[in-house]
Amino acid sequence: MSELNQTDLTIQQLDLFESEFSSVIAPLADEQAIRAAQAQFLGKKGKLADAMKVLGKLPPGDRPRVGAVANRIKATIENEVARRLGELVEVAAQADLLRSVDVTLPARPVPAGRLHLLSQVRLEMVQLFAEIGFVVAEGPQIETDWHNFEALALPKDHPARDMQDTFFVKGADGTSGSDGMALRTHTSSVQVRVMEGQQPPIRTISPGRVYRNEAISARAHCMFHQVEALYVDKGVSFSDLKGTLDHFTKSLFGPEVSIRMRPSYFPFTEPSAEVDMSCTVCGGTGCNLCKHSGWVEIMGCGMVDPAVLANCDIDPEMYSGFALGMGVERITQLIYRVPDLRMYWENDVRFLDQFTAGTFRS
Ligand code: DAH
Repeated sequence: MSELNQTDLTIQQLDLFESEFSSVIAPLADEQAIRAAQAQFLGKKGKLADAMKVLGKLPPGDRPRVGAVANRIKATIENEVARRLGELVEVAAQADLLRSVDVTLPARPVPAGRLHLLSQVRLEMVQLFAEIGFVVAEGPQIETDWHNFEALALPKDHPARDMQDTFFVKGADGTSGSDGMALRTHTSSVQVRVMEGQQPPIRTISPGRVYRNEAISARAHCMFHQVEALYVDKGVSFSDLKGTLDHFTKSLFGPEVSIRMRPSYFPFTEPSAEVDMSCTVCGGTGCNLCKHSGWVEIMGCGMVDPAVLANCDIDPEMYSGFALGMGVERITQLIYRVPDLRMYWENDVRFLDQFTAGTFRS
């Protein structure tokens, strides 16, 4: 076996550093230890520098070969150090992530949509009438003059038309004004449509949107909602109306409320009345909401005028009926004390989110 010369020995020694470094660094798991291992091999007084001390004693022709091996070993060790340090950063980031996710926490609720407050109350109102046999009937929001006015005993020159500032719509044939169509000013128009299509007994409840040409304020809007009830049969009397009203208001507001009826005027009912309810805020002792009267107005009603029955081909000699109409915004205000009508339309979730009951108050 030929003896190895100094150059070969040095190269062999340098080559060993590579695997030696691998086994030194393998178990290390923190930056400081890895840096120390690096210094142990590549530092000024490290193994590589030590081995290279012989360089000056080697034949000059061998020195570049030895130097190239030393550079390769150095690069390999540096790469390995960089790779391991990179690994450490990744492991630390993953540990951070795991720490920041608490898998034992309950899931965050997904925000769910819900019915608008007015829809909640409208459904509640309709439900109360449905329970006593009233069936929902709906009609169009763009209505004929006949259904909104004429059939309800409101002929064109009737002064009561002024009570309802109407938005008129141009007809397809270009006709406009009171001859044409209008946005319905009340849901009483649905009464007419129901009675035209059906003979008594009739018990309908008609929720819907109505329009009036009013300046928008805290107390008025050009667009709002009404619920209209109609009951026509043989022998329907004013006391049926009173009993129904009493049942409805007590079911909606609580058994402690009382109602009173004030004589009033509507063209389509005779007699007509306005219904007041004892104030839900002060209980009748007087406050701002009831203007210190103890009573708040909640609806209009009356016995269907025989002329209206006749207009709809129902025999007024045989049948009688009552009708009533009320504003959903108003009823909602009395339940929830909403101070300004405009809040219903602004769609501010800070307002809407307060009414989480779903469809019904429990
Ligand atoms: N339609 C009336 C309004 O818009 C409310 C009303 C009053 C409806 C009396 C009725 C009724 O059915 O009988 O102000």
